Amino acid sequence: MTGPAGTAAGVVPAAGRGERLGAGAPKALRTLGGVPLLVHAVRALAAARAVGLVVVAAPPEDVAQVRALLDDHEVAAEVVVVAGGATRQESVRRALAALTPDVDVVLVHDAARPLVPVELVDRVAAAVRHGAPAVVPGLPVADTVKRVAPVDGSEQVVETLDRSALRAVQTPQGFRRDVLEAAHAAATDDATDDAGLVERAGGSVTVVPGSEEAFKVTRPLDLLLAEAVLARRRANGSLQ
Ligand code: CTP
Ligand code: MG
Repeated sequence: MTGPAGTAAGVVPAAGRGERLGAGAPKALRTLGGVPLLVHAVRALAAARAVGLVVVAAPPEDVAQVRALLDDHEVAAEVVVVAGGATRQESVRRALAALTPDVDVVLVHDAARPLVPVELVDRVAAAVRHGAPAVVPGLPVADTVKRVAPVDGSEQVVETLDRSALRAVQTPQGFRRDVLEAAHAAATDDATDDAGLVERAGGSVTVVPGSEEAFKVTRPLDLLLAEAVLARRRANGSLQ
C-alpha cells in the first residue's frame, strides 16, 4: 500500500494553561534545560526529514511572545504561529486551517511532549506514507487498570481490564490530511486526542511502537523526570 507523496507538516497544540503542573507561565513556555517546552517539541518535529512546516497553536494572549520566542531559537523548518482555542481540539482545528495547499500528511504533536525522539517522528510519518490513514504511537500499560463507578458515596470497581490489550497512546499522531480534516469537521464533542476523532468517524487507526521518552509533562514530577532525561542526553553529547 502506498500513501500520499507530498509534504508533511507538524501541528503543535500549545495553548493549554497547564493547570495540573501548577502556578506559573503557560505550560508550553515553561523551561526545560533553559529552553521552553514548546521549542523542544517544535525542534523535534522539524528535525524529521519529512517535515518542512510546523504550525503552532499558542495561547491567544501570548501569540506575539510565542512568535518572538520561536524567532529567537533555531528551528529547522518554517514555523507559523496561530491563536489556539478553548480546548485542545479547537487549537488543532485552528492550526489545521493554516496549513499550505502542498501539505498532505499532518503530524499532530503536543507541546507537552518535549523529548520525543526524532526516530519516533520518522516512524509515524513513514507509516502514513506507506498507506495508513491514521497512526498513533502506543506503549504497553504498566499498571493494572480498573473501571470504576460511584456506589453509595464510595468508588467501587466494576471490572479489571485486560492489560495485554491496552496501549497508552502518545504523540505525534500522524494522518493523511484529508482524513484528519474530515474527522475534525465531523466532530460533535471533544476528544482528548485526534485519532479519537478518526475512530468516531469510522476510520481505522494503526498503532506503531511508542517511546518512553515521548512521555507527556503533566504534573510537577514529570518535569523533574524530563530534566533528568535531558541532562543524560546532554552528557551523551546530543545537542538540545
Ligand atoms: N492544548 C491546547 N489548547 C487547549 C488545551 C490544551 O493547545 N485549549 C494543548 C496543550 O498546550 C498541550 C496539549 O494540548 O500541549 C496536551 O494537553 P495537556 O497536557 O492537557 O495540557 P494543558 O491542557 O495545558 O494542561 P492541564 O490539562 O493540566 O491544564
Ligand atoms: Mg489539558
